[in-house]
Amino acid sequence: MATVDRSQLAHRLDAERSAFAEARPASRAAAADAATHLVGGVPMTWMAKWAGGFPIFLAEARGNRLTDLDGHTYVDFALGDTGAMAGHSPAPTIAAVRRQVEEVGGITAMLPTTDAAWVAAELTRRFGVGRWSFALSATDANRWALRLARLVTGRPLVASFAYGYHGTVDETFVVRAPDGSTVARAGNVAPAVPPAQTTRALEWNDLASVEAALAPGDVAVLITEPALTNIGIVLPEPGFLDGLREVCDRTGTLLLIDETHTLSAGPGGCTQAWGLRPDLVTLGKSFAGGVPIGAYGLSDDVAARLAERVAATDADLVDVGGVGGTLAGNALSLAAARATLGEVLTHAAFEHMIDLATRFTAGVQETLDRHDLPWSVVQLGARAEYRFARPAPRTGTGSAGAGDDDVEEYLHLAMANRGILLTPFHNMALMCPATTAADVDAHTGAFAEVVAAIVAA
Ligand SMILES: Cc1ncc(COP(=O)(O)O)c(C=O)c1O
Repeated sequence: MATVDRSQLAHRLDAERSAFAEARPASRAAAADAATHLVGGVPMTWMAKWAGGFPIFLAEARGNRLTDLDGHTYVDFALGDTGAMAGHSPAPTIAAVRRQVEEVGGITAMLPTTDAAWVAAELTRRFGVGRWSFALSATDANRWALRLARLVTGRPLVASFAYGYHGTVDETFVVRAPDGSTVARAGNVAPAVPPAQTTRALEWNDLASVEAALAPGDVAVLITEPALTNIGIVLPEPGFLDGLREVCDRTGTLLLIDETHTLSAGPGGCTQAWGLRPDLVTLGKSFAGGVPIGAYGLSDDVAARLAERVAATDADLVDVGGVGGTLAGNALSLAAARATLGEVLTHAAFEHMIDLATRFTAGVQETLDRHDLPWSVVQLGARAEYRFARPAPRTGTGSAGAGDDDVEEYLHLAMANRGILLTPFHNMALMCPATTAADVDAHTGAFAEVVAAIVAA
């Protein structure tokens, strides 16, 4: 089995860092300028995550190509960490946005447009659940769905998997201590209360942890992705998702499936691809082609129970009760969503994207096999990710322990220097409708070259 030559890695990392900085004077200057008035020197603090000491500054983006201020063009596999899954500025979305803004008029008015019912019907066709409401982000969709789940069940707690990520949702920043108790995830910024007061932490692929957490009958909702995608991709083992549904049914706990990233599995995410039966579904990031949007869907049963609870209590869904937001459901987001779902993120587009992710995965696997490297690559529909462990980790906690900061920084910089962008968070690559086989092969070639340079002889 091959290993990484650490002194060669250190040497190559220095070289890639220097090459990155030298080739990007305009981005470097823009970053220095931005440092004066922006928190962390960037418009949103995560943008400081990019490898290289400063982020490349965006000049323009179209399809799966992105050009920076210094004139470098990249094949973009980051795609806005999924926000641009439909590709950058897809033509049907742009036409709908133009129409709404210029011809129809009205960006946000706190009044419904007919696009909302079309989008909701389309989401029902894809995900099964029958009643939808809109937000401006997946974070808000999750927050509001959790509140409704507590109202519907009359229970106080949430269950969430260790190292799952659902946006900046307080209840979900949990991990499991070695004794199985729930503790805050490292780095959690000033939580209002210790998360164990709101949440029971679960371990992925460990049904016993789920049984134990739900058995007391005080958990309103189990929130999960159908595969973890924010700590590498950790797939469910056979029977695990059926087991979740069964334990939820037995304990009267609602099951919320967050498909924000796993929409990559197909037009109806894993819910459709794997025949799941969620009580609630949440979505965000991509389905309005990059225009801000989020959505939560309720099964008919949950919608009926919600109506009963609203009638029986003073819960205020139409004003300041804690669900909703002024700009949510605005005319522009919904016009963009209608065009994106109807004409861009179609069944045919997913077939193309998934074929390319299969090609991408095979290309990476070839290099891992050639060197017998103890890494793994996992595909989930149109996305794929490599991880520095073999076999691929089976739990969130296991995957959290499989990071390698130096190798990761090296790969990100070496790829960027060769015109390829991966998401700044771990090593995820996403295909969009504009991605081509040649783009995938460019990654395969660059990956083979940069990995060979650090493998011990
Ligand atoms: C599964 C999942 N849900 C929700 C979110 C939150 O999305 P946003 O940051 O756009 O609100 C994310 C973000 O990465 C996510 O991966």
